[in-house]
Amino acid sequence: MRIHPTIDHAELRRALGSFPTGVTVITTLDPDGALVGLTVNSFNSLSLDPPLILWSLGTRSSNRRAFEASGHFAVNILAEDQAAISRRFASPARNKFHGVATHAGLAGAPLIDGCAAYIECRTHSTQVAGDHLLFIGRVERVHTAGRPPLVYVGGRYCGVGPVKD
Ligand SMILES: Cc1cc2nc3c(=O)[nH]c(=O)nc-3n(C[C@H](O)[C@H](O)[C@H](O)COP(=O)(O)O)c2cc1C
Repeated sequence: MRIHPTIDHAELRRALGSFPTGVTVITTLDPDGALVGLTVNSFNSLSLDPPLILWSLGTRSSNRRAFEASGHFAVNILAEDQAAISRRFASPARNKFHGVATHAGLAGAPLIDGCAAYIECRTHSTQVAGDHLLFIGRVERVHTAGRPPLVYVGGRYCGVGPVKD
């Protein structure tokens, strides 16, 4: 992998990994009507007015054409008991949706049962940035289920807990 010569690749990964994130599965419907989705932790909020969110997809992802063609996607924010869903959607499995309970959201993008929250979007814009394709989504529908979220840090899954402050 090409990287700036003064940046230690392993150290960069360690530093980025020490930033805790939630975990999402971002889904869409491909032009043939197949369900598409992958585990994503690059998701973040961007703007409240207008309501915009962002995430990035590896430019070599097998899902790239589906997301570009669809123009819609759903952000499934995983609940703390859904680490197995995260692992499955981060794998190159052929039918990741087999045995996963879903229902169709806007434009057919699948919503996975049991998540902490759902954010359904129309693609507002895309931009290639290095080895990722940045998606900015305009929020069209949102639902919070009230379940505690799954957290990812240092390559491990955990939940949200109280701290002494
Ligand atoms: C916690 C976690 C977060 C991830 N975040 C992203 C991400 O933000 N963008 C991305 O392109 N891949 C991300 N991945 C990797 C993809 O989920 C993985 O490469 C997946 O296999 C891609 O789907 P595909 O093989 O069907 O193309 C993440 C994986 C994990 C475990």
